[in-house]
Amino acid sequence: VRSRRQRQMCIRDRCGIIGINSNKPVSATILNSLKKLEYRGYDSAGIATLSSGLINEVKSEGRVDNLEKNSLVQKMEGTIGIGHVRWATHGLPNSINAHPHSSQNVSVVHNGIIENSTLLKKFLVGKGHKFKSQTDTEVIVHLITENLKTENIVNSIKKTLKSLHGSFALGIIFKDQPDLIVGARRGSPLAVGYGPNENYLGSDSYALKSMTNKITYLNDGEFCVIKKDHVEFFNEDGVKINKKVLELSSSEEKYDKGDYKHFMAKEIEEQPITLKNGINEYIDTSNNDINIYNFPWKSNEISSVTLIGCGTAYHSCLMAKYWFEELTSLDVNVDIASEFRYRKNRFKKDTLYVFVSQSGETADTYAALDLCKQNGMKTCAVVNVIESSIARDSGFVLPIHCGTEIGVASTKAFLGQILILYMLSLKIGLWRNDISKEAFVNKLKDLKELPKLVEKTLLTDNKIQTISGTFNEAKGSMFLGRGFSYPIALEGALKLKELSYVHAEGYPAGEMKHGPLALIEEGMPVVVLAPRDNYYKKTISNMQEVIARGAKVLLITNKSKDEVVSENIWEKIEVESTNEDLLPFLLTIPLQKLAYYSALKKGYDIDKPRNLAKSVTVE
Ligand code: AGP
Repeated sequence: VRSRRQRQMCIRDRCGIIGINSNKPVSATILNSLKKLEYRGYDSAGIATLSSGLINEVKSEGRVDNLEKNSLVQKMEGTIGIGHVRWATHGLPNSINAHPHSSQNVSVVHNGIIENSTLLKKFLVGKGHKFKSQTDTEVIVHLITENLKTENIVNSIKKTLKSLHGSFALGIIFKDQPDLIVGARRGSPLAVGYGPNENYLGSDSYALKSMTNKITYLNDGEFCVIKKDHVEFFNEDGVKINKKVLELSSSEEKYDKGDYKHFMAKEIEEQPITLKNGINEYIDTSNNDINIYNFPWKSNEISSVTLIGCGTAYHSCLMAKYWFEELTSLDVNVDIASEFRYRKNRFKKDTLYVFVSQSGETADTYAALDLCKQNGMKTCAVVNVIESSIARDSGFVLPIHCGTEIGVASTKAFLGQILILYMLSLKIGLWRNDISKEAFVNKLKDLKELPKLVEKTLLTDNKIQTISGTFNEAKGSMFLGRGFSYPIALEGALKLKELSYVHAEGYPAGEMKHGPLALIEEGMPVVVLAPRDNYYKKTISNMQEVIARGAKVLLITNKSKDEVVSENIWEKIEVESTNEDLLPFLLTIPLQKLAYYSALKKGYDIDKPRNLAKSVTVE
């Protein structure tokens, strides 16, 4: 079992890296790959190539677009190079701190954190090395440069890596080596790709997919030497090892905005299709069953489930708690990954640990998975990216099949995650005889209708556009729900704050009187989720309590023949009707749109909100 300190060090990563060793000029291809890696960070970007026996470096603050506009990049020559997108941890996000970092002889791109950089820097300054940036990465450059004075390439890398504490994925080029890129991994993901007379290095297969579908993943402690015509792998002692080449399932998926203004708008509208895909993948219509093949554990080996994720994925876990408790007799726990990984957990053999993540690369979620694996637990991943680290390292994988999601604000992946978790709870409920086959079949029947209902609910557009202005103008807003609607209230508030930069708080409606009611003042917008479920009457009472204190209530309910009995509701949106389990899917739609239109009105960068990254690969 790893010590707490080792766990803390494990998987801390920042940014995305790419390397290409080819016969053709590489800067344009590196630039394209950096665009793909932008989901990992977009504070700054840079490229280094070798040409005429020199290392050339071009770096820009901000998005990859800025780097592309830099006239020096257009002129960059060289058939071997490395590139980087950064999400700042050490030092300001400016062009000096942007990667690559280079000495005269060596250039390095780095994901991760070097924890002993201050000590190493002191040692290197003593040896006469001059530092230009505030980053920890620069010590790697100078350490390799120093070690190269006495060692060959492989030994200098081995020696350097042994001196580094912390986590890293590295791409390295050398002034005197026109056919060689070194890659090294400890804690942060790294893959090698194979092409015709050229080979590649990348933070993930997504960045490499436009060039190859043949991939080898490095494990912790390994490094590699990439030549144009072959790649050699080494363990941490510098001993050569053989590694498998994996063939990825499909070639690159073409994914663009089409006629939409933003990826987020497209991803919201795609939800009926992505839900349909998920349902088709798992539901066996002829046998009225849910296919979860090769599930490695018997139902009597599991008596509880712990669901773990971050952000929207955490909300999916919270949502699933309600279904698991309703449909199975399992004990259910839900945890935020960044909390779980440092707590004194009581690991139990009969618990199924479920890790929910769109990207499958979220550092905290991966660390929580790693911890469970170290303790011999049963682990299952619910992910979108099936080549991701979380998918590869989990005991069992349930893909959500919703296709690439580009918008930083998760939309279709959220519905995809809750769809899979709902089906998993149904299937486990049936396995354990917690629900009858008849109830199971009826629920499947309703589930198959869900994509159509989502499609209809997506039509409630105009009203939300108008309403969104009020949320932008207010000091803050609240999103309230009970039971199945509570996780959706949290998700609605998260969407609004990450896109519109206005304060929004999700709360259980029944908790308002225990404190937050004090926040309500004349004109404050409050979203109340009150579908016609078991909690309906209670939630309507809570709604009246906030109306009485001056709140402008946007009520979101489902269509019904019964009128809502309440006065002074500011606005009402009615989603389609279905069984209680499935209403959360429909309630999510207007909330996604509310956040989208608020940000649109403000003119914010909807697909890339400030300070955020699509995949949070830093702790
Ligand atoms: C969602 O809108 C967020 N941008 C964020 O909370 C995200 O869901 C979270 O970082 C987890 O990401 P993952 O699903 O890729 O693990």
